[in-house]
Amino acid sequence: MTSADPLAVKTLADEASALDAADPLRDRRDLFVGAETSLVYFDGNSLGRPLQATAGRLARFVQEEWGGRLIRGWDESWMQLPFDIGDALGRTALGAAPGQTVIGDSTTVLLYKLVRAAFDAAVAADPARVEIVVDRDNFPTDRYIVEGIAAERGGRVRWVEAPLDAGVDADALRSAVGPATAVVVLSHVAYRSGYLADAAALTRIAHDAGALIVWDLCHSAGSVPVQADAWEFDLAVGCTYKYLNGGPGSPAFAYLATRLQDRLAQPIQGWMGADDVFAMGPAYRPAHGMRRFLSGTPPIVGMLAMQDTLALLDEVGIEAVRDKSVALTSFAVRVADAQLAPLGVTVASPRDPSARGGHVTLSHPAMRAVTARLWTQDVIPDYRDPGGLRIGLSPLSTSFAETLAGLESVAVAVSAAQAEA
Ligand SMILES: Cc1ncc(COP(=O)(O)O)c(C=O)c1O
Repeated sequence: MTSADPLAVKTLADEASALDAADPLRDRRDLFVGAETSLVYFDGNSLGRPLQATAGRLARFVQEEWGGRLIRGWDESWMQLPFDIGDALGRTALGAAPGQTVIGDSTTVLLYKLVRAAFDAAVAADPARVEIVVDRDNFPTDRYIVEGIAAERGGRVRWVEAPLDAGVDADALRSAVGPATAVVVLSHVAYRSGYLADAAALTRIAHDAGALIVWDLCHSAGSVPVQADAWEFDLAVGCTYKYLNGGPGSPAFAYLATRLQDRLAQPIQGWMGADDVFAMGPAYRPAHGMRRFLSGTPPIVGMLAMQDTLALLDEVGIEAVRDKSVALTSFAVRVADAQLAPLGVTVASPRDPSARGGHVTLSHPAMRAVTARLWTQDVIPDYRDPGGLRIGLSPLSTSFAETLAGLESVAVAVSAAQAEA
């Protein structure tokens, strides 16, 4: 039994139809594999759906490039691919001029390389700067990497406390940074709450304290516009398998402002980051520019699929994607208030859309069991402790009708869990 009001359901269904009809991106959903099925996908912020075009791209690559060109492919295009895709990503989604973005290793490995490089440069310039500032609710990899680097380099971690249903604001950061700060590590969109940080303001606060800042853009790249150059970012990393639909384990990107590139040395000195890759010289000399942030052979196959999403973003524009994202999450919050609040579910994400990224977290003690039940019914959200059901609404592949259908299933599953308790 649900306590859903049938009149409210009718009104919300009408609203979903009207929003879909008025959505300028509605036809783009049909470009994704599986969009024609009744499955509700609320996890595009963990692993995006593939585009149909990607199947052809991968098959062509095997037949024509890998199978046809063989080792010549490296000279003909693959050596350049991490930089070409990086520039396309910088242009379409990151507000980054060419020559500052590269596709590399996993986000975790790139975070290690960039935070270490930034920390070492800060300490070399001023030995009193021994602290890395990070928030206690940042994604685990970010916290673990920071703790590891602090231990390895004789530094200290300075923790910022932030509410679980929000994130780090200007006051919280201001009170954590100072003359001892070497590097600040923050997420643009918080993985748990969906809180959207004011990245320009927080970057300014870090700079005013004399520190460098490393942004984690995993939950914003391809969903929330970023102005890396205009906001004067130093360094950033982000995933490509979420809103950029790069596929499971597709490699991450790194951004470094041009002004820093030749000043920073990264710790994994491999041949692909060397000045003359094929000189095979006796000692490592870092390349100029972004190549020095590569280490080993670039994962070419892994970076094919994301190109289809970048082409789509180029066509529709990241601002249109953000507009739809705001409309989708606002609709989800309205449905949650109408259908789920009577069941004791609360919204654990910012209600102000300007402070919210592309996902909404709904909180209730039964959500772990509810998520497991929904997966068996082809409704796919994800679960994050404590009691958080995450609704990730990937704007290019999600409709308003799908969002409503999924949230109605959540209401039924919560009611069932309560009945069983
Ligand atoms: C915010 C955030 N940072 C870092 C990571 C780690 O990424 P990877 O597994 O590619 O190293 C993730 C993965 O989901 C993430 O969501």
